[in-house]
Amino acid sequence: MARERYSSGARLYDALSAEWPVYRVGRTTAIAQLDPRPGERVLDLGCGTGLNHALLDAAVGPDGAVLGVDRSAQMLAAARRRAERYGLRTVRLLEADATELDVDAAREALGGPADVVIATYTLSIMSDPAEAWRRALAVARPGARVAIVDMQEPHGSARIVSPLARAFAGFGGADLNARTWRMIETGARGVSARGLRGGHIQVRVGTLPDTSPTQEARP
Ligand SMILES: C[S@@+](CC[C@H](N)C(=O)[O-])C[C@H]1O[C@@H](n2cnc3c(N)ncnc32)[C@H](O)[C@@H]1O
Repeated sequence: MARERYSSGARLYDALSAEWPVYRVGRTTAIAQLDPRPGERVLDLGCGTGLNHALLDAAVGPDGAVLGVDRSAQMLAAARRRAERYGLRTVRLLEADATELDVDAAREALGGPADVVIATYTLSIMSDPAEAWRRALAVARPGARVAIVDMQEPHGSARIVSPLARAFAGFGGADLNARTWRMIETGARGVSARGLRGGHIQVRVGTLPDTSPTQEARP
């Protein structure tokens, strides 16, 4: 079960997750396009060991805030160690199931509504990604910038690495058919779309409407 994988495997996650050869480019692409600015508040949904946090902390600076939410205490412990080791002072961590996220608690931990929401390689693992995303957007202010990075089977000549992609997805418990980035395509404006590593990694970045309907949909 995915929950157990991320509990017992937390210490090994960074070593086994093919971060540098495969997956890092997804997060760097999304964060560059989100362009978090000094003083902004960022929600990192399903943050895991905090691989996004050094980039986000550097972007928002000392007056900003980065809130990592994850349901695994062990993954959050690794994120905490990372923040301490690298002096990432803006990072706050909240242990919660994203599909049941308490919007007010998240806003309180962040110090206000999020200006930026990012979810990397996590929604396709969740039992109800639509509900998790709906709650994440409810934490955000109208006009916030949002990004989803997730995985599918590689295509074209890159299909040769499909077994590898399946193995990593299987290790992580991801559904390669979930296509969670569609939630940005349907719910945001000015959406940019990138496929990386033979389409295995999909990146979508967009902007929420100025009057966000998600405010009415708050749980
Ligand atoms: C593959 S890791 C990705 C972590 C990080 N976002 C990254 O880019 O490295 C997936 C993470 O999603 C978390 N996760 C899975 N389902 C979750 C849920 N329902 N609520 C919160 N976190 C969840 C897992 O605990 C794990 O840390």
